[in-house]
Amino acid sequence: MTGAPVLRFRLERHASLPSTNDRARTAAELGEPEGLWILAEEQTAGRGRLGRSWRSPRGNFHGSLLLRPDRPLAECATLSLVAALAVAEAIEALTAGRLRPRVKWPNDVLVGRAKLAGILPEAIGGADGRCDALILGIGVNLAHHPVDLDRPATSLTGLEEPAPGIEAFLEVLCGPLEARYARWREGGFAALREAWLARAVGIGEPVRLVVGGAAHEGRLADLGRDGSILLESPTGCLERFGTGELFLDPPPGAGAEGVEAAFAIAAESSSRGAGRL
Ligand code: BTN
Repeated sequence: MTGAPVLRFRLERHASLPSTNDRARTAAELGEPEGLWILAEEQTAGRGRLGRSWRSPRGNFHGSLLLRPDRPLAECATLSLVAALAVAEAIEALTAGRLRPRVKWPNDVLVGRAKLAGILPEAIGGADGRCDALILGIGVNLAHHPVDLDRPATSLTGLEEPAPGIEAFLEVLCGPLEARYARWREGGFAALREAWLARAVGIGEPVRLVVGGAAHEGRLADLGRDGSILLESPTGCLERFGTGELFLDPPPGAGAEGVEAAFAIAAESSSRGAGRL
């Protein structure tokens, strides 16, 4: 791994917050420089992608990192893929290689097919279409995981691994995250594409992608240098998607009913407000 240190990490720790992303956004709006971590032992209104809630009990990691990448919003959106890669690397290091977590586009971390961690990127856009601040919200199921979701989830405890404290986990995470961020600043997502692909699930497999309520079925052919995915339709056409929710192992005839549209790569940020990527 290459990349010189670029961040000066600081930590703000809370016993309880509604959402660490909200607190990080306030700090960003007050002009806080990049490198600030907001950590909460529990969140009372933790948020996931697609407008879902994110259960956030004590014992799990809930953290938001404030970055100021100063790049176009679309480029900054790829930082959520970078964060997922770093989280997977951190968990592998923490478990001395017993676990080798994989990444699922755009920003889930899985062990097997079960979700261990997720990223919620939110941007504050500048007037010129550049990213004034990017908040990387990271949730990792260290000690607990939900068992009543429609998709499988897991935790370190559930995988019979010891669950570290949240600051101990943060210490392990900062190394890969800083190194990957440094590399991204030098070469963009293209410089990390191979590393991401080496951990990816679903490449070459049949998948279903839901975009704007419409389901696209096909084979997940590749990942572009810009972080978008290429889907090969049953007729052999290649289509590029920068947004969407990806489902692996699609059940035959499954449609998009009931699936909300909200996505990771589309920059929804306005020039004034904070947006979810
Ligand atoms: C997902 O849906 O996979 C993303 C989950 C992100 C959860 C984290 S926990 C810390 C930060 N604060 C939030 O409210 N959400 C993110």
